[in-house]
Amino acid sequence: MAAIAIYSVKGGVGKTTLAVNLAWCAATISRRRTLLWDLDAANGSGFLLGVDPKKKRSADSVFAEDSNPARLIQPTGHANLDLLPADESIRTLDRQLDRLGKKKRLARLVEALHKDYDRVLLDCAPVLNEVSAQVMRAADLVIVPLPPSPLSARAFEVVVEEVRASGKSHPPILPVLSMIDLRRSLHREARAANPTWPAIPLASAVEQCASLRQPVGAFAPRSPAARAIAQLWTAIERKLASR
Ligand SMILES: Nc1ncnc2c1ncn2[C@@H]1O[C@H](COP(=O)(O)OP(=O)(O)OP(=O)(O)O)[C@@H](O)[C@H]1O
Ligand SMILES: [Mg+2]
Repeated sequence: MAAIAIYSVKGGVGKTTLAVNLAWCAATISRRRTLLWDLDAANGSGFLLGVDPKKKRSADSVFAEDSNPARLIQPTGHANLDLLPADESIRTLDRQLDRLGKKKRLARLVEALHKDYDRVLLDCAPVLNEVSAQVMRAADLVIVPLPPSPLSARAFEVVVEEVRASGKSHPPILPVLSMIDLRRSLHREARAANPTWPAIPLASAVEQCASLRQPVGAFAPRSPAARAIAQLWTAIERKLASR
C-alpha cells in the first residue's frame, strides 16, 4: 500500500496530467486497486478521466470530522480505478485543517482508504499551505514534475527546501522532467544536466488526453509518451518496493 503525491509549488507543470496517467498505469498495468484523489478545486483529474461532477453536489466534506470518504468516491469507467473528486470544502480546507488542529488529518484519511485501495495518488494544487504540509505527512513518495530549462535543477531545489521546511521528516522526492522537447537545445541541455531524472516528452498525444478525456495509455498505448509514462510508473513501483 502506498500514497503517491504529484506536487509542485509551480502551476501548469503537468501535475494533473501526470497524476491521471500514472493512476491509469497503476490500475491497468499493475492491476492495483487505485484511487486518484483530486486535491485541487479545479477538478482537473475528474475532467481528464471523463468523470463529471455529480449533479446534486453532496454537502459532505471529505475532511469533516464525521465524514465517510467512501460515499464521495466515484467509479471512472476504467477497471480498478476510482476517483475521489475535489468537493466544495477544498476552497476553505486550509482554514478547516487549521481549525481541526489535526496535523495528520489527511494522513489518517489515506490510511483508512488503504483498506480498499493499494495505491492512492494525490493530485495536488500548486500551493504551499497546511494542505500541502499534510500531503507531505501522508505521502510515501512525492513526484515533482519540472518543465525542462536550465533552471529546472534550481526549481527542484526550491521545492525540496519548501518540502523540508514543511516538516522534520519528509518522504522521498522524485523529480520528473515534464514536457521535454529534444528538438530544442535548452531542453537537451536540461536533459543532459539531469541524466538520471525520468522524462516525459512534450507530445500531442498527451494534449489529446484533455479532448478525449482519457489517459494516453487508453487510446495511444504505443506512443512514445505512453511508453515514457509506463516506464516512469515502473520506476515508481521499484522505488516503493525498495522502501
Ligand atoms: N507531456 C505533455 N505534452 C504536451 N502537453 C502537456 C504535457 N503535460 C502536460 N501538458 C499540458 O500542459 C497543460 C498543463 O498541464 P496540467 O494541467 O497537467 O498541469 P498542472 O501542473 O496540473 O496545472 P495546475 O497547477 O493548474 O493544476 C495542459 O494543457 C496539458 O495538456
Ligand atoms: Mg492540476
